[in-house]
Amino acid sequence: MQAAAPKLVVDPKNRMNDLPGRNWLQFQKSWFVYSASSINDFVQFFTKIEYPDGRRGTAYLWSLEKLAPALDDTSKERLLTDDRHAVFPLDYAFFDAVPAQAEPSGSFSIDALAKHIEEVAARLRNNMYFTVAIRNSRIDSQPPAAWHLSKILARHFLLKDEKIGCLETLESCVENAPVPGWQPDDSIIYFLNFRKEIRDEQPAVYPASAPGQLDKKSVEGDGFATGPFRESWFVHRPPRRSKDVILHPAKFPEDLIAKYIRTFTKEQEWVFDPMAGTGSSLIAALDCDRRACGIELNPDFVALANKRVEDTHTWKLVEGDSKSLASYDDLPEFYDYCITSPPYWDMLRMRGAETQKKRKDQGLQRWYSDDERDLGNIDDYESFIAELRDIYAVVAKRLRPGRYLTIIVKNVKKKGVIYPLAWDLTFALQDFLVFKGEQFWCQDDQRLAPFGYRYSWVSNTFHHYCLTFQKL
Ligand SMILES: C[S@@+](CC[C@H](N)C(=O)[O-])C[C@H]1O[C@@H](n2cnc3c(N)ncnc32)[C@H](O)[C@@H]1O
Repeated sequence: MQAAAPKLVVDPKNRMNDLPGRNWLQFQKSWFVYSASSINDFVQFFTKIEYPDGRRGTAYLWSLEKLAPALDDTSKERLLTDDRHAVFPLDYAFFDAVPAQAEPSGSFSIDALAKHIEEVAARLRNNMYFTVAIRNSRIDSQPPAAWHLSKILARHFLLKDEKIGCLETLESCVENAPVPGWQPDDSIIYFLNFRKEIRDEQPAVYPASAPGQLDKKSVEGDGFATGPFRESWFVHRPPRRSKDVILHPAKFPEDLIAKYIRTFTKEQEWVFDPMAGTGSSLIAALDCDRRACGIELNPDFVALANKRVEDTHTWKLVEGDSKSLASYDDLPEFYDYCITSPPYWDMLRMRGAETQKKRKDQGLQRWYSDDERDLGNIDDYESFIAELRDIYAVVAKRLRPGRYLTIIVKNVKKKGVIYPLAWDLTFALQDFLVFKGEQFWCQDDQRLAPFGYRYSWVSNTFHHYCLTFQKL
């Protein structure tokens, strides 16, 4: 059943659309439960029925024939087309690549898709948007499709926030036999949003280069293939944080981590976290009857973590720099699983972030430390990725062969530019780890903020990537 179309408001100050504030706010959430009628939300967010100069809003839908049955009357009031040779300039374009991806493997080409999109997007008015709906399927040794396409398109268009479309029923468009070992299910569609801007040159920061191929490495079955936690998206509401651990700016919830630990390890095996913070992953490991080891740079967090355990027999937490892992003799020679979350670049040092203001008002610590070895203090993005890569290279050396590593991270937004940290990190780790797929931790317990209201699309990023890799 289609949701009722929003009541439109003619507001001359609203340059983007005719949506009332409530609907604007809803669209700003970076993930949503997908249905065929979701197309209406995109058309109605990114176009006005009539612009101040009197023209009617025009949208290109690829392919209109397939999308038409789901369009409501409000969307149909836009001038819709899927003729790429039509003469009028466009206010919006939407490309549904999912059916093309479901064609027999070999007939879908990212390069051909990018060419088609570039051709149509050239007809967009300046500062107008387009969206591509695409799965991240990895066919043979191809790089993840959604990330790869983004990199190609971002050479000419400004990559804005992605929205993650979460499918309630499982569908797979990957025809290949499933790879051995663990992999997530396939119930996600990326909705990638771009803006056409006048540019003299390629963007200075991101992305200068297209990703390389992901190596096609074979992985032996390992007994975890039927592990229970394969959902590619899930909503998780962490319990309220206790008074102690709230001192840490970005702690993750033990009950979520426990699901991963149960999927990837057996009792008494070693779980490692090279950036342990308040020790959440290590506590989760103990709760699951595993042994826990880790490293944390900030002595205050180490003290906090140690305070949280009674029996330290199965617990080894070193205060130090995870880059020096090889020199810490206290740690086991090999561990069986690693789950961790790095600083999200230097985002905690960004002024103006809503949560940062609240923490300041409450007199709480806003960043991890002033230590120069702290990765959260590196301000150059490329150097940050390179440092992180080096740390994970050291970490991977002591991960038992065939075993897994999960990294929880977010794509970040700084001064209006998206830095796809999750994607770039994955490409950086492919020399020594095999990427097994992403899962999304979706948050629905945060308050939406009306960023960019009436003039621009800026989402509230309420999804974290949980990236899982395997060591060969
Ligand atoms: C996202 S937080 C981890 C939070 C942790 N998972 C928890 O639940 O408490 C990242 C942590 O990495 C630590 N860190 C940053 N650079 C480090 C380094 N070079 N070596 C070890 N730890 C580091 C920070 O002090 C911070 O506690």
